[in-house]
Amino acid sequence: MSRAVSILFVGDLVGSTGRRLLLALLPELRERHAPDFVVVNGENAAGGAGITPKIADELLAAGVDAITLGNHAYRKREIYGYLDEQERILRPANFLRGQPGHGWCVVERDGVRLGVVNLSGNLYMRAGRPAFAEADAALHALRERADHVLVDMHAEATSEKVAMGWHLDGRATAVLGTHTHVATADARVLPGGTAYVTDVGMTGARGGVIGVRRELALEALVTQMPVRFEPAEDDPWLNAVLVRASSPLRADGIEQLLLPAPAGFR
Ligand SMILES: [Fe+2]
Ligand SMILES: [Fe+2]
Repeated sequence: MSRAVSILFVGDLVGSTGRRLLLALLPELRERHAPDFVVVNGENAAGGAGITPKIADELLAAGVDAITLGNHAYRKREIYGYLDEQERILRPANFLRGQPGHGWCVVERDGVRLGVVNLSGNLYMRAGRPAFAEADAALHALRERADHVLVDMHAEATSEKVAMGWHLDGRATAVLGTHTHVATADARVLPGGTAYVTDVGMTGARGGVIGVRRELALEALVTQMPVRFEPAEDDPWLNAVLVRASSPLRADGIEQLLLPAPAGFR
């Protein structure tokens, strides 16, 4: 299938502010960019850590095609069964096989099949199995099943994400980094045709510390004592990328979308 497609990928939704901002901006984003697929990282969607079945259902009902997660996948116990049952929500593929959920899926729109893969980095992160070997296994599994493949590489270290971009260049349509919540300025199409960015950024309140209310984050850092974190609400932005592709597994372009909340958003 070689019709032109575009994929909107939205960086980590943080708390109700991030969720509401996505829902508020999605109609306009659809009108302006007409994405064939919308994929969202939802690992911080429930109060800043984890996701619940209700929130996942709400996102899917709003037209999100697939949800990726990360190190916060299991913060909410009620999601465990849902991760096994709902095909279109992913936890990192390189978690242990015995952990709830699965790491890739295929979604279809008008005859085009998009494979979505979620991976976790191994540097400074807890993932039971190596990301690079699992990436190969996931792409192998998707070879006959998908026309395009989007990989969410959820990782702390920029080096590991850059390396994953090179590792999959020419084999995936897009390798998009998440987890650090700060958008990086290196979005580009690699020579083999893979759209790449080290971090998409987050969809949440920029007035905090990567999504946490800044007074609480500062208190923890200054006093070195435990502090209960709450999601920030001040100055919400949506951080996303739009990937365009016209032949299988090859991207034509990647565009960063860094959008403030519309006037009157609360
Ligand atoms: Fe996150
Ligand atoms: Fe994360």
